[in-house]
Amino acid sequence: MATNITWHHNLTHDERKQLVKQNGATLWFTGLSASGKSTVACALERKLLEQEIQSYRLDGDNIRFGLNKDLGFSEHDRNENIRRISEVSKLFADSCVISLASFISPYKKDRDAARKLHEEAKLPFIEVYVDVPLSVAEERDPKGLYKKAREGLIKNFTGIDDPYEAPENPEIHLNTHEQSVEQCVDFIIAYLKKEKIVV
Ligand SMILES: Nc1ncnc2c1ncn2[C@@H]1O[C@H](COP(=O)(O)OP(=O)(O)O)[C@@H](O)[C@H]1O
Ligand SMILES: [Mg+2]
Repeated sequence: MATNITWHHNLTHDERKQLVKQNGATLWFTGLSASGKSTVACALERKLLEQEIQSYRLDGDNIRFGLNKDLGFSEHDRNENIRRISEVSKLFADSCVISLASFISPYKKDRDAARKLHEEAKLPFIEVYVDVPLSVAEERDPKGLYKKAREGLIKNFTGIDDPYEAPENPEIHLNTHEQSVEQCVDFIIAYLKKEKIVV
């Protein structure tokens, strides 16, 4: 633990917003594997960029290739995975980017910690529950992971032999078995407009 450290300030967040001409926020996508977090986040990222709104996606697998390549899927490692992502996402939001974090993030306490971090910094935190019945996720199985988990080849797989704690009060609740990708994206953009995060 470093002790002799001091935070070095430059611009306030409001000054930065005026210069960048954009608000920052974190959209936190949570849901089962194959619920559609990455698919919806990718489509949203593209649509925001097309409207010249800076957005950047932090995605489970991608982050595990680099920043978090030392972490596995035990409860401790999942906690640490989410803790680091929360901090990185907060930095993006502080830099006035719409940060899209898409991680299974199965534990409520980890998501609540991410929320608290943002609230303390007065940065918008929008929890997006990407909801789908387990049976539909398992049927989609785009990476063949459910099949492997059922065969016992992957342990601690969320929804199979590891819990998923559904959000109780998410800002946005998507049902990807009933809404198309486009409908999900439009729903999120309407929310961002209503909250005056984007114009
Ligand atoms: N409405 C929808 N929203 C998102 N994904 C959908 C939808 N309908 C079908 N899918 C499919 O479900 C799969 C979701 O996979 P992915 O986005 O990788 O999930 P996750 O990132 O949650 O693990 C993709 O194959 C996608 O094409
Ligand atoms: Mg994904």
